[in-house]
Amino acid sequence: MVHSQTNGDDAARSHRDPASILQKDLIVVSNRQPYQHRYEEDGRIEVDRPAGGLTAAIDPVMQQTDGTWVAWGDGEADAEVTADDGTIRLPPEDETYTLKRIWLSEEEVDGYYYGYSNQTLWPLCHGGVWKPEYESRHWARYQQINERFASAVAEHAASNSLVWFQDYHFALAPRQLRNGDDSAFIMHFWHIPWPSWETFQACPQQRELLDGLLGNDLLGFHIERYCENFLTCVDRCLDDAFIDREDGQVRYDGRTTTVRAFPLGINADDIQAASESIDGSFWQSFQRDHSITPSTRVVAGVDRLDYTKGIVDRLNALERLWTTNPDWREEFTYVQKANESRSLIPDYQDLQQDVEDAVTRINDRFGTNDWQPVVYIEDWMTDEELAGLYRHSDALLVSAVRDGMNLVAKEYVAAQTGDPGVLVLSNQTGAHEELGDQAVTINPHETDTFAAAITTALTMKESERRDRMETLRHRVRANDLSAWMTTVFETARDLQ
Ligand code: G6P
Repeated sequence: MVHSQTNGDDAARSHRDPASILQKDLIVVSNRQPYQHRYEEDGRIEVDRPAGGLTAAIDPVMQQTDGTWVAWGDGEADAEVTADDGTIRLPPEDETYTLKRIWLSEEEVDGYYYGYSNQTLWPLCHGGVWKPEYESRHWARYQQINERFASAVAEHAASNSLVWFQDYHFALAPRQLRNGDDSAFIMHFWHIPWPSWETFQACPQQRELLDGLLGNDLLGFHIERYCENFLTCVDRCLDDAFIDREDGQVRYDGRTTTVRAFPLGINADDIQAASESIDGSFWQSFQRDHSITPSTRVVAGVDRLDYTKGIVDRLNALERLWTTNPDWREEFTYVQKANESRSLIPDYQDLQQDVEDAVTRINDRFGTNDWQPVVYIEDWMTDEELAGLYRHSDALLVSAVRDGMNLVAKEYVAAQTGDPGVLVLSNQTGAHEELGDQAVTINPHETDTFAAAITTALTMKESERRDRMETLRHRVRANDLSAWMTTVFETARDLQ
């Protein structure tokens, strides 16, 4: 039995300052950096700030604790503003912590990021629905770059450091760091699913990956199932590991790794505030800009353009609905906000093409002079605009075919400050464990029932919508990002 660390409401809301729990120097390691420098057209250097999510949440903790953040310096002007040792003090207007930038050549990015991270580990951990690639040159780069990050951490770490690795880009670095220095507390949060042993055993580097992650003192996943999967993989793969399922611990190589579920939350207060700050004129101009008549309802989808998100399955369900049930034509417009992602990888290029083809096909097939069935938005939207889209959408469709958590579902819930909409949520997401009972559940592969679920959402009585959304908002706020970080830091503190 692995312990879930979901906070109760009171506990969560009384802990608003995760930084106050830290008794150690924090060193965060992530692939993406919190601040990126770029050139303006006139040659001036501008800094892009953390847009939201985890990066934006860790930033204030770093500011309060004068920590160190180690990340890939991928901005075009990064090197110009960074000292010779790769460090820069941030934020620019109030330099309170150190960012250590790791420089990667094009070849290194190709092997470590586009290669092993995103063409091996990403598809592997998302359940083997897509075939992972096992190129030995990608693996070699991944090992080498993990080593580089581990060495950079070692330069900044001391006996009282708490080192916190983020995600699948760094499966090996905890062990590499541990081999050089036994004194820091090392922890890791794995933001994507951990697959079953049946899937994981196909990976030629299974031993090295597990050995690397068992260099951590504390290893976190979103939900208990991923913890159980991880423990089973260790059990089946490493003969010399002892597993205590009751306590969620692995004893291996003379050390103990504690494995826990910490379901990641969002910054609900900020999203609620952004949603409340939106006035009616935003929505009127949004409707005008996208040729949506005031009487047409809106259903939304917001996704990074990734094949795990089930965007084509969703468009197929909409097409099925408008085909079999013509009464629903002109009743609502589907707005797809899409964020381009990992576009150098052929599978991602294919997906972009498939999505665009499906949008064109549906619009050609059903569109009229007064109605465009699908509005496709690739342009950047501010946090307020996004919150406004959530707030004014009668339903949000989350149809991931596999997703570690899915924070968009939680963002939609937090933004329902007006007449509440309905969350339509795939049973293949980690978020479904927390929110599924109050959402309309779908299996993204079942086109007919998915289409029917959209009509269920759009015809739900107001009282039921209100009841469901109130429960969801309460849960999302109680288990927000700050509560999550507090629980992670408290667990780390208790293990030391
Ligand atoms: C997922 C991963 C993150 C990653 C994000 C965006 O959510 O868990 O680690 O940062 O996708 O992907 P990218 O490849 O652009 O960093």
